[in-house]
Amino acid sequence: MTTDTFQFRVLATDGNARRGEITMPRGTIRTPAFMPVGTGGTVKAMYMDQVRELGADIILGNTYHLMLRPGAERVARLGGLHEFARWPGPILTDSGGFQVMSLASLRKITEEGVKFRSHIDGKVFEMSPERSIEIQGLLDSDIQMQLDECVKLPAKDRKIEQAMELSLRWAERCKVAFGDQPGKAMFGIVQGGDKPKLRERSAEALKALDLKGYAVGGLAVGEPQEVMLEMLEITCPILPADKPRYLMGVGTPDDILKSVARGIDMFDCVMPTRAGRHGLAFTRFGKINLKNARHADDPRPLDPESDCPASRDYSRAYLHHLVKSNELLGAMLLTWNNLAYYQRLMQDIRDAIEAGRFADRAAEIQEGWARGDL
Ligand code: GUN
Repeated sequence: MTTDTFQFRVLATDGNARRGEITMPRGTIRTPAFMPVGTGGTVKAMYMDQVRELGADIILGNTYHLMLRPGAERVARLGGLHEFARWPGPILTDSGGFQVMSLASLRKITEEGVKFRSHIDGKVFEMSPERSIEIQGLLDSDIQMQLDECVKLPAKDRKIEQAMELSLRWAERCKVAFGDQPGKAMFGIVQGGDKPKLRERSAEALKALDLKGYAVGGLAVGEPQEVMLEMLEITCPILPADKPRYLMGVGTPDDILKSVARGIDMFDCVMPTRAGRHGLAFTRFGKINLKNARHADDPRPLDPESDCPASRDYSRAYLHHLVKSNELLGAMLLTWNNLAYYQRLMQDIRDAIEAGRFADRAAEIQEGWARGDL
């Protein structure tokens, strides 16, 4: 028997929280991990070297954006996404269905796949589960996601059930299309909206497919945080303990702490990068809105104790000025600060799980946000 070069190991547990490691040919991913979002081959407003230096082991790319522009076949001819975007480490790609539903127009979902018009030039595209996996292969993605249908909540039970069952059939087709690729993985995606029974059915059926990892999708799509956490409490215990669990599109630092406590290993979210471009800074003291006039004369940095230059060396007054003047540097510094904060939070979480004090550390971190710095 040949051993796969894609391996996940749980190194320590603390309650349901897990400290683990995914090893694969392009590198090791320390979990719990936060994956910065690099939608179209760039983590917006960041150099890849900076992203790496902050401690990100893996970034996320999007099938939908890259297939439309510059095109998956072109990326393949240019040596794959790692070479094209100058990120040598592991890349996870989302399959495209979720982005079609949020960005494309004239979307039509059938058993065969999804048909849509590009949000860029209106051209019509079709994507089947097989084509999604083919595109992710052309990009040379290390962790590929099944094509799925994610329903925005609230939604009717029947709609949630149909989308979940369709996603299960698409998971089987993606598994066949992906085949046996040592060193790479294809993850299934649990759906089922806010319905416990449907989440159970989805998790059980995906588990039976014996995939290399499992994502929980269809959350943070309009439901309260307690509902999301309840769905995790139902889903995580069903998923195999020896496989990584990825919560898609989540979330705030508070969502991350509470989801790690329920057994999630991987996260991605546009929150730190997008908020950075809109004048919002994440810090140990909570969120700081640099647009606010109260910062105009404040000589203090965001966090004097941070080792990130963006957080430590620039005054809030200067950041306020940059944001108010719509300067590119404002977006760059705040994105840098935010990704530094998220990666430091993940390191803090990993250390606390190893030390067996995750719950205490999570409470301290939450107290810091509540206290503020004024
Ligand atoms: N990103 C956030 N949620 C989802 C989801 O449910 N499915 C996919 N494919 N991507 C997501």
